[in-house]
Amino acid sequence: EKGEYRHFMQKEIFEQPAAIQRTLQDRIDSPDAVSAAFGEAARTIFDRVRSVQIVACGTSYHAGMVARYWLEALAGIPCQVEVASEFRYRQHVVPEGTLFVTISQSGETADTLAALRDTGSDNYVGRLAICNVDGSSLVRESELTFLTKAGPEIGVASTKAFTTQLAGLMMLVLALGRRHGLSDERIEQILSELRQLPNLLEQATALDKPIEALSRAFVEKHHTLFLGRGVQFPVAMEGALKLKEISYIHAEAYPAGELKHGPLALVDKEMPVVAVAPNDELLEKLKSNLQEVRARGGELYLFADKNARVADGEGIHVLHLPAVPESIAPIVYTVPLQLLSYHVAVLRGTDVDQPRNLAKSVTVE
Ligand code: M6R
Repeated sequence: EKGEYRHFMQKEIFEQPAAIQRTLQDRIDSPDAVSAAFGEAARTIFDRVRSVQIVACGTSYHAGMVARYWLEALAGIPCQVEVASEFRYRQHVVPEGTLFVTISQSGETADTLAALRDTGSDNYVGRLAICNVDGSSLVRESELTFLTKAGPEIGVASTKAFTTQLAGLMMLVLALGRRHGLSDERIEQILSELRQLPNLLEQATALDKPIEALSRAFVEKHHTLFLGRGVQFPVAMEGALKLKEISYIHAEAYPAGELKHGPLALVDKEMPVVAVAPNDELLEKLKSNLQEVRARGGELYLFADKNARVADGEGIHVLHLPAVPESIAPIVYTVPLQLLSYHVAVLRGTDVDQPRNLAKSVTVE
């Protein structure tokens, strides 16, 4: 039931601190506990992993894209990510020692399941499902499973499933990284950062009111651009997907460095631009991309670290997030984008929990 909330999506956004807490509970006390969360067979399978292939759809695909940045940067393991509907119909090369990873809230998505069923190559060392539904087809048919414990997700727009997938994927990166030279100190450090997540997500949901106020600027718009760089690029993609899905406003995400290679031509004062800008080394570069937007009269909405040295100005609206460790920033920065699309959709009067033309679980091709 929705309780005090107006929509399931809203309830599920606010449930994220608890959902992450459940997902991490008893699983991040030590590096050994992290590996154990993937099941008994994981020990031997993980030892043999030389590359990772992630396959998923929609929001779950965006989680996979974040994981690729993490896996290559922290564990030095090559990683490919592809949407299931493409992967399953494409001739592809499977490098020796590949771990096949599916990500899915429902565990019943037809394309993802079909891709899993087609992993006959001997070069796969194992199949892991990161999934929110125990006993689902994906879970039953994979030798390794990591269950996100988000609880039932009713809103068609995926929210808490995504952030819990990301938490599970970071655990996977630590489990594999440990076998690939990621130091114990770094692992312990990231584990302690993961423990801060419920609290940081709580602080992110506390931005609800200012985001609601800001959402009014989007109601009459027809197009929006979402920008991010590095690991925040998939977060921008997820923000754009949420907005188009429930508010029916056209939204596109770009890695900010691609702006001048085309999309900048679209920017004018009718095109709000949303950017995620935590305080990482790409911030300075992002800032110069944002100048390009301002110079064309585009209104900028910036979600930035409180230490990011960016301030409100003419046409620039900054919303500050708490200081977040880099390792978990994509998880925390997702929340304000979910809230933004939620409030825009409510103002536009759409059916937030059941957007037109969409089904919660896509069990047909
Ligand atoms: O159940 P799955 O995670 O496999 O579903 C994949 C997509 O259909 C799903 O994430 C979809 O994109 C959501 N409606 C996005 O909010």
